[in-house]
Amino acid sequence: MNEIQKAKEILKEYNQNHIVKLFDKIDEEKQAELAKQVLGIDFHKITELYENTKKEIEIKEKTITQISYLDKAKLSSEEKKKFDTLGIESVKKGEYAVVTMAGGQGTRLGHSGPKGTFKLDVYGKGKYLFEILAENLKDANKKYGVTIPWYIMTSKENNEQTKDFLEKNNYFGYDKSSVTLFTQGELPLVDTKGKLLISKDMKIKEASDGNGGTYSSLRSSGALADMKERGVKWVFIGSVDNALLKMVDVTLLGMTIDKNYQIASKTVAKANPQERVGVFCKCNNHPKVIEYTELPEKMAEEVDNNGELKYGESHIMCNLYSVDAIEKISKETLMYHTAFKKNSYIDENGKEVIPEEPNSYKFESFIFDAFEFFDDIAILRGKREDDFAPVKNKEGVDSPRTAKELYEKYWAREIEK
Ligand code: UTP
Repeated sequence: MNEIQKAKEILKEYNQNHIVKLFDKIDEEKQAELAKQVLGIDFHKITELYENTKKEIEIKEKTITQISYLDKAKLSSEEKKKFDTLGIESVKKGEYAVVTMAGGQGTRLGHSGPKGTFKLDVYGKGKYLFEILAENLKDANKKYGVTIPWYIMTSKENNEQTKDFLEKNNYFGYDKSSVTLFTQGELPLVDTKGKLLISKDMKIKEASDGNGGTYSSLRSSGALADMKERGVKWVFIGSVDNALLKMVDVTLLGMTIDKNYQIASKTVAKANPQERVGVFCKCNNHPKVIEYTELPEKMAEEVDNNGELKYGESHIMCNLYSVDAIEKISKETLMYHTAFKKNSYIDENGKEVIPEEPNSYKFESFIFDAFEFFDDIAILRGKREDDFAPVKNKEGVDSPRTAKELYEKYWAREIEK
């Protein structure tokens, strides 16, 4: 059986006859491409994910408790020195690598290119988000006399554009041989009847599988093997859209080494009980990020003996892992979250349909759902004004305007130091 026949058999088995019919409408080259795409799709998984959308969410018995953390600003000078020394030693030995998750669509920001190519209007001239990240890493390299390997995760959709942009800008002066781009996985979009959508280019319409895809993509792309070959022991994974992200925090690294933990996270204190951020907790004794939508109002307002919010450590996508932890997670199955969205498609008559209401499911896994695979996580609370300037929305909170202000204020303070 050739690839096209094989693909058709699979499609029939999974009730996707509209795609079997599509083969008759496209030329030979396109047929071969479509067959290849079909053979790469895990139909069993996608069927299961679709079936789950029809089930009631199973409410498991959950015991939510407060998680412990250390506040960087309140560490004793001996403790800080101990952590910093351990962290610096590891970075200097070349054991540290950094991953930037840049595969998101940045829909809320509404920028037409990859988010890292967005120019934040700082100091009149402006700086691209990728440029800000490169500068942060170059500073660390200078300080510790190393070149930290930098891995950038893109999506199939934005990989070319990201690569061209970085090439055009000469990787903002970063050593090119230390930058590796890898692409995250995708999953098909499914309509309410379980049918896969067809895109304008006569393919099955797929979308990135969420930032939780980082772990498995690190392994399948060979990036993890590359890290091991370079002698990397610790991997930082951060977002592309925080203009104050500190990718090389030696206190966080040293604290994790000292406590013999496999995973760690830098947090900032929640601005107020109603802030729309995920916060850390322990769920059935395992670390977890609980989303603001899932945290009951009463719990969101609860304070501990120090008058601090009990569930106030915000997850800001500033996470650290041992290489072994990444390996372990990459072999596990993360849960998928379902978003019901508007997605255009080509109908059986070959016409494009642009829906006015949500019509299809997008399945995504989240980076923080992996924390539950561990008994504990080392949490270091940073400072909002030093660590967190997200660029999420076009306007208002967490927008380019607020990030610019935070960035400029931070650097004004640094210069004064
Ligand atoms: P967000 O979840 O904020 O998504 O990503 P986003 O794509 O930037 O923005 P919206 O929700 O579409 O408006 C947090 C981080 O995770 C990355 C993003 O690039 C960002 O660094 N991410 C997200 C991925 O790398 N892949 C994904 O599939 C999703």
